[in-house]
Amino acid sequence: MIGKNILLGVSGSIAAYKTAALTRLFVKAGANVRIIMTESAKTFITPLTLATLSKNPVESEFVKSAAGEWTNHVELGLWADLFLIAPASANTLGKMANGICDNLLLATYLSARCPVWVAPAMDLDMFAHPSTSRNLKTLADFGNLIIEPEPGELASGLEGKGRLAEPETIFQLVADWFKQKPVFAGKRVLITAGPTYEAIDPVRFIGNHSSGKMGFALAEAFANQGAEVVLISGPSQLSTNHPAIKTVRIVSAAEMLDQAKSHFPSADIAIMSAAVADYTPRVKATQKIKKSEDEFAIELVKTTDILKTLGTQKSNQFLVGFALETENELENAIKKLKAKNLDLIVLNSLNHEGAGFGYDTNRVTLIDKSNQITELPLQSKNDIANHLVQYISSHIHA
Ligand code: CTP
Repeated sequence: MIGKNILLGVSGSIAAYKTAALTRLFVKAGANVRIIMTESAKTFITPLTLATLSKNPVESEFVKSAAGEWTNHVELGLWADLFLIAPASANTLGKMANGICDNLLLATYLSARCPVWVAPAMDLDMFAHPSTSRNLKTLADFGNLIIEPEPGELASGLEGKGRLAEPETIFQLVADWFKQKPVFAGKRVLITAGPTYEAIDPVRFIGNHSSGKMGFALAEAFANQGAEVVLISGPSQLSTNHPAIKTVRIVSAAEMLDQAKSHFPSADIAIMSAAVADYTPRVKATQKIKKSEDEFAIELVKTTDILKTLGTQKSNQFLVGFALETENELENAIKKLKAKNLDLIVLNSLNHEGAGFGYDTNRVTLIDKSNQITELPLQSKNDIANHLVQYISSHIHA
């Protein structure tokens, strides 16, 4: 941790007293520590204590009046290698999740380009409230890492989950993270995500319910491990502002094919997680189709299988496909793996509660080209993405 820049954001919770020990641990390990306090944090621990332990002035003001500077939130955000918000009160979590920016800590959160870690602390009922869960989920979706609070005796005298993780625990997580080398530094990863829309006429299309969650989670997981990612996404509500992800928006299967073919030659890894339409209308009407007859048929033609196309063009890329099966799952997935010349296939099953389209969770089985089968338990799509990153890393580096 020597020479690393840790920015510690302290908000108003009794657990703020623990930041004295945490600051001491970081400084002893050789890190540079700067601290931002909210006004209410100062009722729990004094700025003087934290300034003394961090060996730096504590920041709270948007404008440093003496020097007339007002951009310190930007400067702090750029300075930090890691922004750790501990303790994060329910109030601060709520504001972070909603882009509210009425103090220096929150302005710096919006400005920071480094990873942001959040360690909540509050009473058990506040922690269990649906709004807190929703805010934490939003922050996790933004790519922030949540350090779960611990169960135990709380300042109110109640027993439950809400205690700030112990300083030693937080310190160890940060130390381990700084030790890690990004697994995919210098690698290029191509990912497809979301549905495709196949136009019938200017106002209608054939589409599907894919949300794009798995593909976006994969893009973030690879980018967090140092990869340069090109994410080709069909129509999806999702977006990412990760600096290492270039998002290419397309609509139809044909457009996705063009983009995938043009980015594939320079990719080291390609993961096709999009739910691409298998058929598209033979004719796309140039004007809106008027209703006339009682029956109306649309003639469909097969789209080009993007994954299979890349399988035939493959030189030394690691190629990953997804399979969605409802019967003879393993057998069909293995057939697809071979037919499309893949290195790995991720089998989705719709036969499990909580798995598949639109859900935040999924249950998948990984099958590699030597028919090695790994079943993963039901877990969030972010966790599956991180698991895949590790799995692919161990396959490539084996
Ligand atoms: N895929 C693709 N291009 C297509 C259709 C599918 O790249 N035109 C990719 C998907 O992104 C996924 C994989 O192929 O990685 C499997 O898709 P799936 O729909 O399960 O299988 P299909 O091969 O389309 O076969 P079937 O629908 O008969 O199961």
